[in-house]
Amino acid sequence: MDNFTYFNPTKIHFGKGQIATLKEEIAPNSRVLLTYGGGSIKANGVYEQVLDALQGCSVVEFGGIEPNPHYETLIKAVAVAKQEQIDVILAVGGGSVIDGSKFIAAAACYDGDAWDIMTTDGDCVRRALPLGCVLTLPATGSEMNKNSVVTRAETQDKLSFGSDFVRPVFSILDPQTTYTLPPRQIANGAVDSFVHIMEQYMTYPVNAKVSDRFAESLLLNLFEDGPAALATPDDYEVRANLMWTATMALNGTLKNGVPSDWATHAIGHELTALYGLDHAQTLAIVMPALWRYKKEQKKGKLLQYAHRVLNITSGTEDEQIEQAIQKTEAFFTQMGNPTRLSDYNLSEKDIPAVQEKLTEHGMLALGEHQDITPHDAAAILKLAL
Ligand code: NZQ
Ligand code: ZN
Repeated sequence: MDNFTYFNPTKIHFGKGQIATLKEEIAPNSRVLLTYGGGSIKANGVYEQVLDALQGCSVVEFGGIEPNPHYETLIKAVAVAKQEQIDVILAVGGGSVIDGSKFIAAAACYDGDAWDIMTTDGDCVRRALPLGCVLTLPATGSEMNKNSVVTRAETQDKLSFGSDFVRPVFSILDPQTTYTLPPRQIANGAVDSFVHIMEQYMTYPVNAKVSDRFAESLLLNLFEDGPAALATPDDYEVRANLMWTATMALNGTLKNGVPSDWATHAIGHELTALYGLDHAQTLAIVMPALWRYKKEQKKGKLLQYAHRVLNITSGTEDEQIEQAIQKTEAFFTQMGNPTRLSDYNLSEKDIPAVQEKLTEHGMLALGEHQDITPHDAAAILKLAL
């Protein structure tokens, strides 16, 4: 097991009716910047619950944060936060609203060019406004981690940053808020969290039993409750388990003591920035192909996954690995995210631009062995035509 440092200060309020705890978390008379997306929170009653709980506070609203939040939008919110002398940001929505709000929180306290936050991976961040979240889409884990992904639409750059200063102070997770999610977003969330687990699991064995067995249990939850959430959309228990699984998938717990990969995400972000695919769609394309490309290096963990999670016991080791990859592809496809570029009207001619963008972004040595170059990324995508 590798060395690690574990820090997670985010307080979680989980379950039915927990939006009311906003009253305890945000002091009366606070100046609150309420950030949200394209309006789902107004259609499903979350907005009213939030405003109800914020009575006594001065609330300034900033809506319109888009999926894959745009720097160009967020920078307007930064100006509002400064002008209105905001005390606390409350992000209400999915990962995009929360990620965008992390950027706003940091940029509102930064004197230089705010894009520095992205190009330095958050190293230039020294302070941030406090951030609270009401999560409405289980997927990213952003509600309980220090990461944020922001897109600069003008240049098609989708970059991420991480900083302890933008960790949410608290997050409220009421599974009932997810009932209004369209099937596509449920599916995206299940696939995204599945891949988050795998980015921290599918590397090489280091005998980190806690992280490995946590990861395996969360994968089993997703195999069960991902399809169940689509089949029985009004089942509270399914929604609740899915929501907490997605949070646990990327709140720092699984990375303790193990190497991590993250090449699938890096390649996937370029596909989203260039061609507009949903984040989870890109992951469904890249991950199975990457496993085939790196089969020898990932052999130990691929077999562990095949045996412990999928109960695959027959065939040679190579056959077991191929079965495990095919079952994973079948899961993504069942969740509405097919695994080939051609499923999204992309082809071989679209691959060189991904290679170029990875090079431009300095993504030259990806994966747990830092041996996946932009050239390898292109070869991986060719396995997913
Ligand atoms: O904008 P609104 O109207 O709220 O609609 C949203 C949006 O259209 C809708 N939605 C959210 N909750 C809903 C709802 N619709 C009905 N009922 C509800 N309860 O869903 C759509 C997608 O929302 P979005 O926030 O974009 O989805 P998600 O949570 O999957 O976030 C994706 C973003 O997170 C980044 C991705 O790259 C992408 O930009 N990631 C962030 C990570 C992190 N911070 O750790 C890690 C991830 O790997 C990921 O990269
Ligand atoms: Zn992701």
